[in-house]
Amino acid sequence: MNFELNEEYKMIQEAARDFAQQDLKPGVIERDEKAAFPYEQIKKMGELGFMGMMVSSQYGGAGLDALAYTLVLEEIAKIDASAAVVMSVNNSLVCYGLETYGTEEQKEKYLRPLASGEKLGAFALSEPEAGSDATSQHTTAIDQGDHYVLNGTKNWITNGGNADIYLIIAQTHPEKAHRGINVLIVEKGMPGFTIGPKENKLGIRSSDTHSLLFSDVKVPKENRIGEDGFGFKFAMKTLDGGRIGIAAQALGIAAGAYELALAYAQERKTFGKPISDHQAIQFKLADMEVEIEAARLLTYKAAWTKDQGLPYSKEAAMAKLHASEVAMKTSIEAVQIHGGYGYVKEYHVERMMRDAKITQIYEGTSEIQRLVIAREILK
Ligand code: CAA
Ligand code: FAD
Repeated sequence: MNFELNEEYKMIQEAARDFAQQDLKPGVIERDEKAAFPYEQIKKMGELGFMGMMVSSQYGGAGLDALAYTLVLEEIAKIDASAAVVMSVNNSLVCYGLETYGTEEQKEKYLRPLASGEKLGAFALSEPEAGSDATSQHTTAIDQGDHYVLNGTKNWITNGGNADIYLIIAQTHPEKAHRGINVLIVEKGMPGFTIGPKENKLGIRSSDTHSLLFSDVKVPKENRIGEDGFGFKFAMKTLDGGRIGIAAQALGIAAGAYELALAYAQERKTFGKPISDHQAIQFKLADMEVEIEAARLLTYKAAWTKDQGLPYSKEAAMAKLHASEVAMKTSIEAVQIHGGYGYVKEYHVERMMRDAKITQIYEGTSEIQRLVIAREILK
């Protein structure tokens, strides 16, 4: 067993750290305040290979593994959790799903531009009445021979307004319940496809979240991924990897807040000494260090398990559950360590606290992760 990252991983991590410092940090407060999408930064992430990290070079990806992907996401999320989720959806939900289950034609047409960052992807499973209860799909994809007719509404879709290519989960055979669900590739601009207004969110404000509306959208049959009825399995399998990405995002938020709190605690003086000399503050820092390290080990282990080709549903759920809880707790404590300064935008930690909350909700809430873990251990 070796807990040391090799030189290649360290170089990748350093490249992401440099990019985050130079390109994401300036303007991160303003983008959050204005809910402004990081267009330039995402473009550069494409150039650096960060938008298709695990896609093979055959399709223009970086050809790296899940651990490398996790290291990069962590560094990005330390500085800008919004950019991290844009990256995470494109990589682990859209590119991964297309490369693993798509046809050669689908990969050439859709995966290649997504992997290079030329185009952006979105993944649409959730609906107004189907979030945790994801099998309860109301969006329909009616089989019309050479095409499907898509009707319904998807909710809360990350990259919803800025994406070019959408993976839409929809029900084709209601009598077969989840075994009748399909996943279709839908392009922006297809007649009958409209994008709802942008959500005004608590956190990850510079990522865009929209509902998607489908009214008799004709989708060619060749845009279905996998066999008829594979859509729900596709979503579950893809989300297993997605949850490693969100664990890395949460880990990054926690680590970023901790780094700021640690530095501040050594600078800020009260009662004639740095606040880091007060035992109450030291204990907070000690707890943060322990919890972040535990979250990191779980997250890297989940990525490693995936890279070994072993089953990783439980590992991904454990990493996502723990890292998101740690992100929330750590960012709240980071605000506390900053006192009043933590409550204003210039010190970053209040944004991190707002950003942390979503990691306990999306890609399966903490309650759903516990359900997945419990089912695995009781199987
Ligand atoms: N891999 C493969 N198949 C799986 C699977 C997995 N990890 N998990 C479940 N399945 C299969 C089951 O085997 C079953 O298929 P069969 O009947 O053919 O065997 C089928 O899926 C249904 O499974 P369940 O009976 O377990 O279904 P359920 O209704 O009890 O719900 C659930 C399962 C785990 C709760 C699931 O609904 C779930 O994950 N809910 C949360 C949804 C979610 O995570 N949404 C995220 C949206 S994307 C997002 O949020 C992106 C973002 O923010 C950035
Ligand atoms: P509900 O399912 O209604 O849950 C409400 C509460 O009940 C939660 O606390 C939940 O944990 C609890 N609960 C529900 N069922 C159970 C149970 N069986 N046992 C115990 N507790 C339970 N979805 C996409 O498809 N694509 C995206 O790109 C995407 N991006 C998102 C971005 C943002 C900013 C947000 C807010 C959401 C996004 N989502 C996306 C949707 C997200 O995945 C769902 O919000 C999430 O899965 C929860 O579903 P829900 O909101 O319907 O809550």
